[in-house]
Amino acid sequence: MKTTADFVKMKQAGEKIAMVTAYDFPQAKLAEAAGVDMILVGDSLGMVVLGYDSTVPVTVNDMVHHTKAVKRGAKNTFVVTDLPFMSFHISREEAMRAAGRIMQESGANAVKVEGGGEVIQTIQALTTAGVPVMGHLGLTPQTAGVLGGYKVQAKTAQAAETLIKEAKKCEEAGAFALVLECIPQQLGKEVAKQLNIPVIGIGAGPATDGQVLVFHDLATFGVDRIPKFAKRYTDVNEHVTTGLKQYIHEVKQGVFPDAQLHTFNMEQSQLASLYG
Ligand code: KIV
Ligand code: NA
Repeated sequence: MKTTADFVKMKQAGEKIAMVTAYDFPQAKLAEAAGVDMILVGDSLGMVVLGYDSTVPVTVNDMVHHTKAVKRGAKNTFVVTDLPFMSFHISREEAMRAAGRIMQESGANAVKVEGGGEVIQTIQALTTAGVPVMGHLGLTPQTAGVLGGYKVQAKTAQAAETLIKEAKKCEEAGAFALVLECIPQQLGKEVAKQLNIPVIGIGAGPATDGQVLVFHDLATFGVDRIPKFAKRYTDVNEHVTTGLKQYIHEVKQGVFPDAQLHTFNMEQSQLASLYG
């Protein structure tokens, strides 16, 4: 399994880091078999798997439950789990306890926290306690309510400057990597240049040290519309719908199950005694 040191080496070598989210056993298994460098159990779980309309309802219990399944499916891949909404703001103690649970109960290799400002002290405390932390700046979906929706962030020079400062502070606080979401590509490039830790972009342009996408977006799995920054690499919806419709049709027509292929037989002697 790769380590946080390996990710720094990849940055130094100019080798891009490919990260994808996963929320259960089969997704994790597929991601690992395909060769991703890192898996994120994102709190996007709430939207793409649990059907909520934001990440706000997701709990630490949800994250532990799903990370357990992901670790069982991807034993040899570095797994990062999101600290969900409000789990790291009430007090230092609560943040530590939430991260501790995620690491100990589910086997995550690191946690991710959204935001700068006060959150940077939490990054420091977690790192000191031995929890590898990934930062997350730019569009932070947990605060979408405050930001006024899911919009491109840091478009002005002033906002960009603030983001660069916070990114540096995340690094100084001990973060091993940083996610930048939905910002101008020029800023993604600049932050990647200024930091020594790997910068993983999602909607942050091609110049970051790596990319992360939501599994269900890249696979068109359950979702209808995907964000501008995502790309559909395959269409699970289409494949599964075709299969389901064919199944329903064959059941109705009496074509499935096939008497030869999908069935079991009783031996003649047993049949004879059954019917006397
Ligand atoms: O929850 C998530 O999937 C994320 C990524 C979009 C970075 O935080
Ligand atoms: Na997230």
